[in-house]
Amino acid sequence: MPAVKSMFDPKDMQFRHLGPTGLKVSVLSLGGWLTYGGTQKGEIVKKCLQTAWDHGINTFDTAETYANGESEVEMGTALKELGWPRDEYVLTTKVFFGTGRKEPNTRGLSRKHVVEGLKSSLERLQQPYVDIVFAHRPDYATPMREIVEGFTQVIRNLNLAYYWGTSEWSATQIMEATQIAEKYNLIAPVVEQPQYNAFHRQRFEVEYKPLFQQFQYGTTIWSPLASGLLTGKYNDGIPEDSRFATNKSFFENTIKELQSPEGKAKIEKVRKLTTIAEKLGGNASQLALAWCIKNPNVSTVILGATKVEQIEDNCKSLQLSEKLTPELMEEIEKILDNKPAAPATFGRDR
Ligand SMILES: NC(=O)c1ccc[n+]([C@@H]2O[C@H](COP(=O)([O-])OP(=O)(O)OC[C@H]3O[C@@H](n4cnc5c(N)ncnc54)[C@H](OP(=O)(O)O)[C@@H]3O)[C@@H](O)[C@H]2O)c1
Repeated sequence: MPAVKSMFDPKDMQFRHLGPTGLKVSVLSLGGWLTYGGTQKGEIVKKCLQTAWDHGINTFDTAETYANGESEVEMGTALKELGWPRDEYVLTTKVFFGTGRKEPNTRGLSRKHVVEGLKSSLERLQQPYVDIVFAHRPDYATPMREIVEGFTQVIRNLNLAYYWGTSEWSATQIMEATQIAEKYNLIAPVVEQPQYNAFHRQRFEVEYKPLFQQFQYGTTIWSPLASGLLTGKYNDGIPEDSRFATNKSFFENTIKELQSPEGKAKIEKVRKLTTIAEKLGGNASQLALAWCIKNPNVSTVILGATKVEQIEDNCKSLQLSEKLTPELMEEIEKILDNKPAAPATFGRDR
């Protein structure tokens, strides 16, 4: 019997290691793109974070570019007011896009912007460090060695972060960064933040497979609901207070696609998935999230939410994921009909 009983209450949450690291992230996390600092400010941000926390979510994501820095301001203020012990939550941010300023050195992955960008993010967040800092995109104009050196510097010399990751990098770029880190005794990235959902699978399931096999590379996946499409809310048009309405110009092409044969086919799939979800006692959103959770290469599924009720709703996906038998996964696969093909190996499989 342990002398001291563990005080930790996982609530209804599950935790996974962030890739090859010892860091544990809740399998559902919460991010601030287009929401916190964008359409949502003040008390609602705090309420959303608190609701996530009450469900055991310990991981929160933002970026310097979200609402040109305002997402970090809003989330940082909420975290400060909520006053949770800093060692109980995991905070991640991203540098690359800058905050909308036009100067050549206020964006990208030069050593200068990696260091200065992160320092500015931390000021907006009112935090001494983040747990993970992501390179929000690859930077073709900066030598890879400088990029890896920059992230090593913020971790090893400046104590501004514990780990670094990539976002929407190719597998080749991630391999290159890892090899450079090994060769020059620098710190390698450990996690990718890619888009992954039932309608967007190719890169995650095929291109990244060697990263999962060789490095146990971690993933914090974004847009698990395809910005809401997989909830079924767009089946019959665009609701007034929905993302596609509140960010009309950004989603112009997506909205147009909804009218095309491809868009209509996606809606039809959502309807069929809804039937499965309802048979299991859930809804389309929960099923779409549960499908992501089932993938063992996903470290955490980043939720986006404008309302407290959406977080309540989405957290039920954990229970639903336990009901997804191999037979049901097969049934879902048939409906989706989009399983990415693996590259031909001509008999050279391991
Ligand atoms: N690294 C990158 O390049 C990158 C890119 C994008 C996002 N991200 C990260 O990933 C996070 C999640 O991405 P995302 O926000 O696109 O995720 P998502 O889950 O695909 O979309 C979230 C949006 O869907 C709607 N929604 C969520 N739950 C719902 C429910 N139960 N019922 C009805 N509507 C619901 C809400 O929008 P409305 O209420 O407004 O309709 C919500 O803001 C972001 O916050 C960010 O941290 C990273």
